[in-house]
Amino acid sequence: MKMLVLLGSPRKGGNSETLARKVGEAVEKEGWTVDYIRLNDLQLRSCQGCGGCEKTGVCVVKDDMTGVYEAVDAADRILLVSPVHFYGLSGQAKSCGDRFQAHWSRKYLLNIRFRQGEGRKGYLLSTSATTGPKIFDCSILTTRYIFDAMDIEYGGEFLVKGVDSRKAVLGLPDEMDRAEQFGRAIAAGRV
Ligand SMILES: Cc1cc2nc3c(=O)[nH]c(=O)nc-3n(C[C@H](O)[C@H](O)[C@H](O)COP(=O)(O)O)c2cc1C
Repeated sequence: MKMLVLLGSPRKGGNSETLARKVGEAVEKEGWTVDYIRLNDLQLRSCQGCGGCEKTGVCVVKDDMTGVYEAVDAADRILLVSPVHFYGLSGQAKSCGDRFQAHWSRKYLLNIRFRQGEGRKGYLLSTSATTGPKIFDCSILTTRYIFDAMDIEYGGEFLVKGVDSRKAVLGLPDEMDRAEQFGRAIAAGRV
């Protein structure tokens, strides 16, 4: 089984990536393959809303998204990783997500269902500096719709509030443990 981790923070080794790697290690320990893509390292244009995907389900913009599409379609589980940026996904994660309009066209305009019945699932991992009750609401809603366009069931989220400096999560061993548990739960099919 293969899990793809889409790292959406511009900050290398930051809070969301640190937690995501803990999740990934736990999944790997169960014998799965885990691949990471750092979105900030790619050349990705935002969706142009051109409708070019509507007849084919394939994006006409040719850039590093080609590799992301292939990796997503090949994965059994996908972890979308993003810090909260202004109460939503980071620009990197949102731009990547918007490019799945091509998959939305494939599913909803062309009625092509992709890898149905295989139990593919997607999850959100997010971190925020503040602790308000609605801090992750926007990111969760957006992520649910991105996975729906990919034709992937939303499996839930792993969220840590109140972490701001780059390695703040390392000072929270309970959250690091929880990340490991989340990885185990993914591999065991419990989430
Ligand atoms: C552009 C930007 C916008 C942010 N907006 C918010 C916000 O709206 N609410 C919040 O609680 N934290 C916000 N943060 C803080 C990050 O969510 C927080 O530091 C997070 O842990 C960073 O994760 P990372 O290290 O993986 O990038 C923002 C940070 C940046 C750089």
